[in-house]
Amino acid sequence: MDNRPIGVFDSGLGGLTAVRQLEAVLPHERIVYFGDTGRVPYGTRGEDVIRRYAAQDCLFLEQQDAKIIVAACGTVSSVANADLRARAVPTIDVVEPTAKAAVAATHNNRIGIIGTAATVRSGSYAGVITALRPETQVFGQACSMLVPLVENGWIGEDDEIARLAVARYLQPLKEQQIDTLILGCTHFPLLTAHIRAFLGDEVTLISAGQEAARACAKLLAGTDALCDPAQDGGTVFYVSDLSQNFAEVSRSFLGREATDIRLVDIHSL
Ligand code: DGL
Repeated sequence: MDNRPIGVFDSGLGGLTAVRQLEAVLPHERIVYFGDTGRVPYGTRGEDVIRRYAAQDCLFLEQQDAKIIVAACGTVSSVANADLRARAVPTIDVVEPTAKAAVAATHNNRIGIIGTAATVRSGSYAGVITALRPETQVFGQACSMLVPLVENGWIGEDDEIARLAVARYLQPLKEQQIDTLILGCTHFPLLTAHIRAFLGDEVTLISAGQEAARACAKLLAGTDALCDPAQDGGTVFYVSDLSQNFAEVSRSFLGREATDIRLVDIHSL
């Protein structure tokens, strides 16, 4: 048994979609969340910068005595996964569990992956998927504009801009006749209704946050590191900048209003 908290980080507040899944799967665990709101986005940056930021994010969570670190960010998971594995604390990235779930779901071996430019450029998902099943074809599509769209709340089912943006990005994947789509970015679960409407119900959608939460639960259970089931769970939130309206954003990403937000000087680590 291990009552220390689970650490979760992301480039910003999108990682709260993963926290929501973790809170559902592991309700007794304590969670420490760090969102690098002062340096978001990561997805448009180069590899060296993303790796440096990810190292600082992990260090902060290690200082909070995290027993495990979940990299909720698709970009970090894609670009810095070797660095994550080399850390002293066990880490979970979103790529491996999500790629495994996609391979299990596909029937025609044609999988799409949408993410940031850095995620798609890295070829991370294709690497894991083709190692698991070499005959699978993976079609990547960077969807950079969808991130600010979600952050600005343009996600309603009747939002015409969201509908058009989703259609424009997903049209090439539809033409490739994918039967499974990986939502490889923290923000994209919020566009599920639009994505489903465009691709149809026959395409299986795989959410990275959900798969990472399940993988985390499995790893903790397998290493006897789950907390005392009598413990009261709860999440504390740290950010590197308070400029965003955390209360409002947390309602859409986390499904409830987050309170008690603390500021971290991440640059000094
Ligand atoms: N959290 C990032 C991801 O999942 C999206 C936002 C960003 O570009 O930093 O890739």
